[in-house]
Amino acid sequence: MFRSNLTFLALAWALLQAHLISIKIPQAHAWPTPTKWLPHFKSHRPPREHYARRNFKTISSIYNLTVYPNQLPIFQAGGAAVPEGLFSREVVGRVDPVGNFTDFDESIEYFFALSPLPQANPVKAAITGYQITEFSSQCRDVAASVVYLYSSVVNPGCADHGKPLPPLKQVAFWRFDKHGAVLKYDAWIPNLNSWVESTTRTNAADPQSRAVTIEQICGATQMLCRGPNAQWGSVEECVTTLSLKNFGSYDEAWGDNIVCRSIHVVLTQVRPDVHCSHVGPTGGGKCVNEAYPANYFSDEKLYGQPTGETFMCD
Ligand SMILES: *[C@@H]1O[C@H](CO)[C@@H](O)[C@H](O)[C@H]1NC(C)=O
Ligand SMILES: *[C@@H]1O[C@H](CO)[C@@H](O)[C@H](O)[C@H]1NC(C)=O
Repeated sequence: MFRSNLTFLALAWALLQAHLISIKIPQAHAWPTPTKWLPHFKSHRPPREHYARRNFKTISSIYNLTVYPNQLPIFQAGGAAVPEGLFSREVVGRVDPVGNFTDFDESIEYFFALSPLPQANPVKAAITGYQITEFSSQCRDVAASVVYLYSSVVNPGCADHGKPLPPLKQVAFWRFDKHGAVLKYDAWIPNLNSWVESTTRTNAADPQSRAVTIEQICGATQMLCRGPNAQWGSVEECVTTLSLKNFGSYDEAWGDNIVCRSIHVVLTQVRPDVHCSHVGPTGGGKCVNEAYPANYFSDEKLYGQPTGETFMCD
């Protein structure tokens, strides 16, 4: 049953949202991941071939860094905090339905800086475990995987601490360089909208919750994007302009819409000089209407190879 209660509505923004402004992020080492929070599995059946084991390990290490609080050093220091050997400096990729990530910094921000911080959302949700449930690598340079990212409430000292929340699924094809680091990826999050709605227990289609989102994006933008990064004359100007744009859906977050900005505003905390324009009036080349099918089929441009070659074994 829907309750038009502002606290509830605000939850909708929880996961992919703004707000960290006044949040004090603990140092990573101060937060060892308590094992009792959640399953923190590896696959029970490691692959046989040497290259398959190597590729599995790379992918597993990447997803392990999305688990709270492992992402904190990257949230704070960016690419410099990403361990060697996971991503090539030349990495490019695409995540459906979020966007393309055309260099190293964009890629690592997608994987790690968007992983929810419990301090920054009302549900106190975080990814607290992961399991690679499907994996195949039949040659050295290519692998395919499915991961379940388990979430739960991280709220030490409170009754709901450790309460499981719905998991998020990601399907991906990967291409590795000769050292086993990811060079290219093509990934899908098949149920992002359902995950956001079920985790926050709100309906993103509700007009009131939409209005709250816009206000939150605008408030955060005004605080995080200052000086040369400023996008709007005032919160009011931002609200008025964004209210005229499509809201979008978390199942199609790539566009000149609100949902896209709600994701990119998180990244303004990491590199405001780069990301502020993405949440501003024009979408800065990121939150722009790249029409279907160009958004998801421009493989040659994105991967620099004829379509159909990148994720095939040679
Ligand atoms: C995940 O990362 C944590 C913290 O760095 C580490 O202790 C743990 O061994 C890693 N787990 C796997 C499966 O790699
Ligand atoms: C990435 O997406 C943007 C729109 O968000 C588009 O303009 C650009 O051409 C794409 N780049 C590649 C390499 O596909």
